[in-house]
Amino acid sequence: MQAGIRDTIAQQIGHTLARTDFDWLGRKYEGKVRDNYSAGDRRFIIVTDRLSAFDRVIAPIPFKGQVLNEMAAFWFERTGSIVKNHMLAMPDPNAMVVRECQPLPIEVVVRAYLTGVTSTSIWTQYQQGARVFCGHKLADGMVKNQPLPEPIVTPSTKAEKGGHDESVSAEEIVRRGLLSPELMEQVSEVSLALFRFGSELLAKHNLILVDTKYEFGLCNGELVLIDEIHTPDSSRFWIRDTYEERFARGEEPEKIDKEYLREWLASQGFRGDGEIPEIPTEVIVETAYRYLSAAERIMGRELDLQVGDVASRLEANLRRFLSEGR
Ligand SMILES: Nc1ncnc2c1ncn2[C@@H]1O[C@H](COP(=O)(O)OP(=O)(O)OP(=O)(O)O)[C@@H](O)[C@H]1O
Ligand SMILES: [Mg+2]
Repeated sequence: MQAGIRDTIAQQIGHTLARTDFDWLGRKYEGKVRDNYSAGDRRFIIVTDRLSAFDRVIAPIPFKGQVLNEMAAFWFERTGSIVKNHMLAMPDPNAMVVRECQPLPIEVVVRAYLTGVTSTSIWTQYQQGARVFCGHKLADGMVKNQPLPEPIVTPSTKAEKGGHDESVSAEEIVRRGLLSPELMEQVSEVSLALFRFGSELLAKHNLILVDTKYEFGLCNGELVLIDEIHTPDSSRFWIRDTYEERFARGEEPEKIDKEYLREWLASQGFRGDGEIPEIPTEVIVETAYRYLSAAERIMGRELDLQVGDVASRLEANLRRFLSEGR
């Protein structure tokens, strides 16, 4: 990591990308973290610096958008032989141009560990007595954060805005007519192959891929990986070399990225409801530092961090991209 990185992060605090309003780019759809602009057969995904936790947008974190976007690109570039993906170009560190696809109506979660804290997570369900999760049998006597015998595919339905996603078995996805049996099979195989690839690469960097979520679409009848892949927003990563020892002692694994801010918020009594606490500068800097160090560790290179207004740089880069007729 570069010397003075924390100073660079602190200098960027006033310049983060919290929102965009590029109506000239296409039809806008705003997620919690990303702004999507659809323009015919392609889409511009702007990864903002917004951080979401407990299902709320908490605060902009310096360089977070760039980190997530570059990480997704890193994985897209390396997994093309497993499955096609939507990436076309990266006109700016915070933007990706992608092929517009017909999204499949499910999210594909792959899990390698018995963990999680939300009501729908596999550990919560197990603790409450469930011994089948999304069609997978689970042995008695397992404990929190234990590895599953092998990674499992646990699809969830995509609820309409405001609704709650539902975890179901692959059979149930087919039974509800959401996917054909053949497509469900293909999606499961591809997801497990992506997960295996990700786990092996991360293991070399002392990380565990705990669980992750993939989204797929169809483009000209072909299966295409869309959305993002193996980013801290779609995945959980644990530190590998301390895992065994901590697990044996019944301690929580060392987690990276968002967990730090989540725990800070929880220590202030915030768990998603009510007013978001004011976040001190040093907590913002530490959060950004953790995102950056994780990304650099995974990608094996330093990121080119430019202190300055992201919005104006982004707009200039996007306008140039369009004017070049690309
Ligand atoms: N190439 C693509 N073609 C079509 N749709 C896509 C493509 N890539 C991503 N999408 C869809 O665009 C939407 C992006 O939304 P986004 O992830 O930003 O917000 P969200 O899913 O509504 O909420 P959250 O912020 O909780 O993720 C998702 O529904 C995703 O499936
Ligand atoms: Mg999403």
